[in-house]
Amino acid sequence: MPSTKKILFLPGDGIGPEVMAQVRRVMDWLVASGRASFEVEDGLVGGSAYDAHGTPLHDDTMKLALAADAVLLGAVGGPKWDNLDFSLKPERGLLRLRKDMELFANLRPALVFDALAEASSLKTELVAGLDILIVRELTGGVYFGQPRGISDLPNGERRGVNTQVYDTHEIVRVARVAFDLAGKRDKRLCSVEKANVMESGLLWREEVTKIGTTEFPDIALSHMYADNCAMQLVRQPKQFDVIVTDNLFGDLLSDCAAMLTGSLGMLPSASLGEADANGARKAMYEPVHGSAPDIAGQNKANPLATILSFSMMLRYSFDMGVEADLIDQAVRDVLADGIRTGDIMQPGKTLVGTSGMGDALLAKLAAHG
Ligand code: IPM
Ligand code: MG
Repeated sequence: MPSTKKILFLPGDGIGPEVMAQVRRVMDWLVASGRASFEVEDGLVGGSAYDAHGTPLHDDTMKLALAADAVLLGAVGGPKWDNLDFSLKPERGLLRLRKDMELFANLRPALVFDALAEASSLKTELVAGLDILIVRELTGGVYFGQPRGISDLPNGERRGVNTQVYDTHEIVRVARVAFDLAGKRDKRLCSVEKANVMESGLLWREEVTKIGTTEFPDIALSHMYADNCAMQLVRQPKQFDVIVTDNLFGDLLSDCAAMLTGSLGMLPSASLGEADANGARKAMYEPVHGSAPDIAGQNKANPLATILSFSMMLRYSFDMGVEADLIDQAVRDVLADGIRTGDIMQPGKTLVGTSGMGDALLAKLAAHG
């Protein structure tokens, strides 16, 4: 029997619970077919945690996250909580998980499924076969830098401050993850910053270059300014293999890359910490899409990004590449059969809901026994 993996489920807000329910079905299939054994705990994060406990992430939930082998998160946020104090907003729950688990490397693949190449807003030939990976630094930079805040000035104005700051070790550790992943792919890494205007960007460029020369001489390293990268992503996206960049640029560029694929509803992500002595990393997996409050509770959301996030968990946290491949292939098969949720619907295809997509996927998996 495979060893039991401890997973914390944090469905969160909006469509989170619905899409997570479909992951549960996939997990149950893995267990029932003797391929895996899971111990699952459930917790609250975001607005749902605020409603229950008055905080977007309770300390007890944080403890569960730290004790788990991996965390799977749905989505956080919604208009109901928009006017809360900054420190209580649903997003703070997510940011605390990232920070306290020290998940400094955020992997955001942008992969165009053959069956969906025409759903992109770009010309099909520009995106068909696209497979890029953005590695976003996730626990530093302007998201967390001090000083920060809003203060009153003597002249009656107010001042808002955030600080972009990177220390050597923060750059080096995320660069190593990116180089390493590039080594398993096409061996090309593009490092992105604004070294032309920001000292933190210059340091970023120098440190990444050093790691490349000394530790990863077989990876072709290039550098690009972030504004140019945004432009190149929509001009000629297939020029990229792996991109490594800071927290804020990574936030922007990954949304941009995501849209190349036609739908945010398809994109998974992994957030990884440092490897311990046994090679195990703290890890959290989540879809790139948000909580989509406009369609929440209507059985309309696309569960595939969350299911693919679970597949990344199997691959990166549990060394279950075979099972991850099974799930990824089932997703491709379902799409090839023309099964579509509303966000990826095309003329002539079959529109299904969240659970209908789960049914179709389970049917493909069941074919494997
Ligand atoms: C993301 C999101 C988050 C971020 C928000 C929800 C805090 O946009 O994961 O890309 O800015 O990092
Ligand atoms: Mg974002």
